[in-house]
Amino acid sequence: MAGKKKKGPDAETPIESLDANAARVELARLVAEIARHDALYYQQDAPEISDAEYDKLRHRFEEIERRYPQLPLSDLPTQHVGALSAEGFGKIRHAVPMLSLGNAFADEDVTEFEARVRRFLTLGPDEALAITAEPKIDGLSISIRYENGALVTAATRGDGAEGENVTANVKTIREIPHRLVGTDVPDVIDVRGEIYLGHADFEALNRAQAEAGAKIFANPRNAAAGSLRQLDSRITASRPLRFFAYAWGETSAMPADTQAGVVAAFKRWGLPVNARMMVCESAAGLLDYYRDLGEARSKLGYDIDGVVYKVNRLDYQTRLGLVSRAPRWAIAHKFPAEQATTVLRSIEIQVGRTGALTPVAKLEPVTVGGVVVSNATLHNEDEIRRKDVRVGDTVVVQRAGDVIPQVVRVVEEKRPVDSVPYVFRDTCPVCGSHAVRESDEATGEADVVRRCTGGLVCPAQAKERLKHFVSRNAFDIEGLGEEKIELFYDDGRIMRPADIFTLQARDAESLKRLKDQKGFGAKSVEKLWASIAARRRVPLDRFIYALGIRHVGETTAKDLARALGTIEAFQAAVAAAAEGGRDSEAYRELDNIEGIGLTVVDALAAFFGEPHNVEAVGELLKHVTVEPYVPVAVTASPVTGRTVVFTGTLVATSRPEAKAQAERLGAKVAGSVSKKTDYVIAGADAGSKLDKARELGVTVLTEDEWQALIGGG
Ligand code: IVH
Repeated sequence: MAGKKKKGPDAETPIESLDANAARVELARLVAEIARHDALYYQQDAPEISDAEYDKLRHRFEEIERRYPQLPLSDLPTQHVGALSAEGFGKIRHAVPMLSLGNAFADEDVTEFEARVRRFLTLGPDEALAITAEPKIDGLSISIRYENGALVTAATRGDGAEGENVTANVKTIREIPHRLVGTDVPDVIDVRGEIYLGHADFEALNRAQAEAGAKIFANPRNAAAGSLRQLDSRITASRPLRFFAYAWGETSAMPADTQAGVVAAFKRWGLPVNARMMVCESAAGLLDYYRDLGEARSKLGYDIDGVVYKVNRLDYQTRLGLVSRAPRWAIAHKFPAEQATTVLRSIEIQVGRTGALTPVAKLEPVTVGGVVVSNATLHNEDEIRRKDVRVGDTVVVQRAGDVIPQVVRVVEEKRPVDSVPYVFRDTCPVCGSHAVRESDEATGEADVVRRCTGGLVCPAQAKERLKHFVSRNAFDIEGLGEEKIELFYDDGRIMRPADIFTLQARDAESLKRLKDQKGFGAKSVEKLWASIAARRRVPLDRFIYALGIRHVGETTAKDLARALGTIEAFQAAVAAAAEGGRDSEAYRELDNIEGIGLTVVDALAAFFGEPHNVEAVGELLKHVTVEPYVPVAVTASPVTGRTVVFTGTLVATSRPEAKAQAERLGAKVAGSVSKKTDYVIAGADAGSKLDKARELGVTVLTEDEWQALIGGG
């Protein structure tokens, strides 16, 4: 009876003989067939057809698609292929930020991680603490959003808060399903994981690139990144990118209550996960896993750079929360760096933003772990002396992950007979000022860093400060990179941060317009004006960080912004500290801020004690508006905006957990008691802080009273 039915097209029907209707039916058949073989190949490791047969299917699909471009192609693996975005990639804001990981290098770092987690959670030695271990894939992280099971967007990590929209390209990756299947797929879930390229595919790609006279990629990760960031999705589609899912961002429901459980759900839904993930019960188990994986590393077929450990219970993960931008519940245990030997051609001295002279080894180019290295850091003068590194020496260089390669040691047997010890200069190579090693007030020891004393007159320092000012985590001015800063500084257009914001007005009146200058053009200049204009409003923490004050990194800038709230409060606080000196109340107030110590307050006071810095900041503020600090993801509570101090031994929670909990509820946690303290929470054996609170009439709470106040929250 089947013979009676009108026969539909099949794999043998010549494409020319298909009418539009038959083409649609055949396309649908091919989509299902391709998806089935993808699943067999990638998820079940059980292909039923050869690669050549598979390619034939794809080929046929593409051929029909070409003939009937008007057919609706929803859910097809090559959907959007060829879509060319004129303005590059748009941005996507991650609903939940994409985090980074803290690093462990030595075994002790891992035992300490486990112990720290236990302390934080107040777990006794006999209480179970399961931790997962899995390979750390050396690729690029991606966040893929599924709504009602369908893939809707995909974004790169970017700065963690906002990434690039690479949806069209991600949809061309065979291993990534366009639809999640299962009864427990949440309505909304951002699936996170790593896109990477296998070794064999990487080598084949580079061979093809070489034949075509195209760019050769340094390593699989660069090749994967280059392949994903293609404006023409057809190129991405032609690269065999792969994917492992290992984490998540926003989700409307959780499919499990453990890390391993969620990853198992990913697998059920059709996402590729790493089969080597394991649940361990002790730090010793983690270290065994690390050693086993190290041995298997070269046979995996893809690059990994370590192991990631994650606390398995999700309720523990929530309690542990974050420090800075990394979770307290996870850590990356890195494999040792890769090394190679080469010849040191010369030593160049670079001058940093704070005048630090940094020696850089200029090397005979050498490949270290798949990357060509021609520069390596020598750290400082003492390191050169300690290792007795000389120009002309054969040296061992090493590189670990993304960090700058380093010179590890000299191969003495290969030292030229006429070599002479290296003498570190005592003048700045850029401005000629004296370069000195300050000595520490307390210890009298010389600082390891030699610094140029040129300050404002040193062009190298000024340029580095400007580069820092416009950099990604500071003002983030697109189109004003390091080269442009060099150029604008040298031609006198931008000497101080404020000049950036008057550049357009000055250019309009200038005879030598920027748009007529070599290397520019009307369009790129317009873009530059737009990106400068976009930064006339800036959050307080970025503003503080951008000033480039010594010892004030991103985290410290955030701590200051959180505690002081507005630019006016910040200015008043630092001015008072600069004026009052170490014994002033203002100094102590700053020192009291959680996360801020005396070194930072000294640096702030030194910076704002210089009239030209105060003036430069004042100038800048004529052109930019600084937004008050907005606390992130804070739940409004009775303690929001209050300053609290913990003292003594707590019972219900550990001190770090109590602090994290208070901060989540919007409270400021200070290190010592002052007039501004709202509550002192006193545990057992509270000492001088409790006395101080009583003296100042600050409300003192027991731990139970505190928990009652915040509603157990
Ligand atoms: S978990 C909150 N698991 O490593 C935890 N990350 O150094 C988020 N990475 O940005 C990351 N393999 O790109 C996790 N199995 C793995 C990973 C992994 C590679 C990358 C990821 C992340 C970076 C942090």
